[in-house]
Amino acid sequence: MQGCSIERPCVYASRHPIETGRLMTKTSLSLDTSPAIYVEHLRKEYGSKVAVQDLSLQVERGEVFGFLGPNGAGKTTTIKMLNGLVRPTSGRLSVLGRPLGDREAKKRIGFLPELFRFHEWMRAEEFLDFHGSLYGLSRGERKQRIPEALKLVGLEGRSRSRLRTFSKGMLQRIGIAQAVLADPLLVFLDEPTSALDPLGRRDVRDIIRTLQERGVTVFLNSHLLGEVEAVCDRVAIIKDGEVAALGPKAGLLGGEHVVEVWVTDMPERLLHEVRRRYRVVGAEARGQGQARGPAPTGGRAPVAVNTECRLSLHLSNGEAPALVELLVGGGARVHEVTPRQRSLEDLFVDVVQVGGDR
Ligand SMILES: Nc1ncnc2c1ncn2[C@@H]1O[C@H](COP(=O)(O)OP(=O)(O)O)[C@@H](O)[C@H]1O
Ligand SMILES: [Mg+2]
Repeated sequence: MQGCSIERPCVYASRHPIETGRLMTKTSLSLDTSPAIYVEHLRKEYGSKVAVQDLSLQVERGEVFGFLGPNGAGKTTTIKMLNGLVRPTSGRLSVLGRPLGDREAKKRIGFLPELFRFHEWMRAEEFLDFHGSLYGLSRGERKQRIPEALKLVGLEGRSRSRLRTFSKGMLQRIGIAQAVLADPLLVFLDEPTSALDPLGRRDVRDIIRTLQERGVTVFLNSHLLGEVEAVCDRVAIIKDGEVAALGPKAGLLGGEHVVEVWVTDMPERLLHEVRRRYRVVGAEARGQGQARGPAPTGGRAPVAVNTECRLSLHLSNGEAPALVELLVGGGARVHEVTPRQRSLEDLFVDVVQVGGDR
């Protein structure tokens, strides 16, 4: 295991914790260019239960990072470790270039926990004032930032309303206002859209985009993959407490995509050839008939065909012309070739289903 350094500050947590002391000279947190999040071989056991197995990843400043995985994969546990709420069993991590528990870093980290509970007897502004004092904001700072945070989440007219009168969507938004109140450099949002209708989800997406424009790093865990796909720059999919896929969204989704093909008069032999050459993920052939296909001796000969055939297959960029040539050369009549961009959901299902354990 690598040692700690100024470039790579870390805390080492183990069954026999070692004293690391202060690991870096102090630069301003906002000027510091070390990764927003750095995690290496992070592990958390609850008794005999391994919640996070062996997690390594890095999130750069200003990124919107999607942290995905099936239920029980260890996402919330990871977020709690990054917020200093749960102590890792072993591994190394730093947040905003500072070791776990650094008080200055904590002040610049916003957190909307999963299943956040609200003080529903409070008015919106009282609730934010309370959380502002927990962050150590002065009265003057609170006075300035509360209206800004309410405006960011679209609740500026509701500062005097009690939280018990809020809808689920409004509660989620005031939860986000709480997370952004202290002018954070890094915000963790654990399932921020789960209770929301499509309009509420769009609002959260817009809030995340605004944070992104301001240079705030956002670590987002959501089941709603469409939302994540719309806002994230990079994505990690974790499974059983380990990273199963990690990369820029464009890289993970691009490169290979699914193409839907509609042909008629598809000779059986040609269908086999297509299956042999490409990764066919769906084939629906209807009606048997005869057509004149290319004969081995030249000219055209009667062949058995599927009168109508719809195929879904994986193609890499630039492979479409060769596929069409193969189909036409083999005697099929091509009506439609429709590319379908691979969605984050397709990727998620592929990654999570590997091993067939779900
Ligand atoms: N405090 C705890 N005690 C025991 N097991 C826990 C605790 N918190 C989480 N777990 C277990 O750890 C695993 C990961 O949980 P969690 O991090 O909440 O997953 P996710 O957020 O990805 O759904 C689950 O199997 C869960 O039951
Ligand atoms: Mg969770």
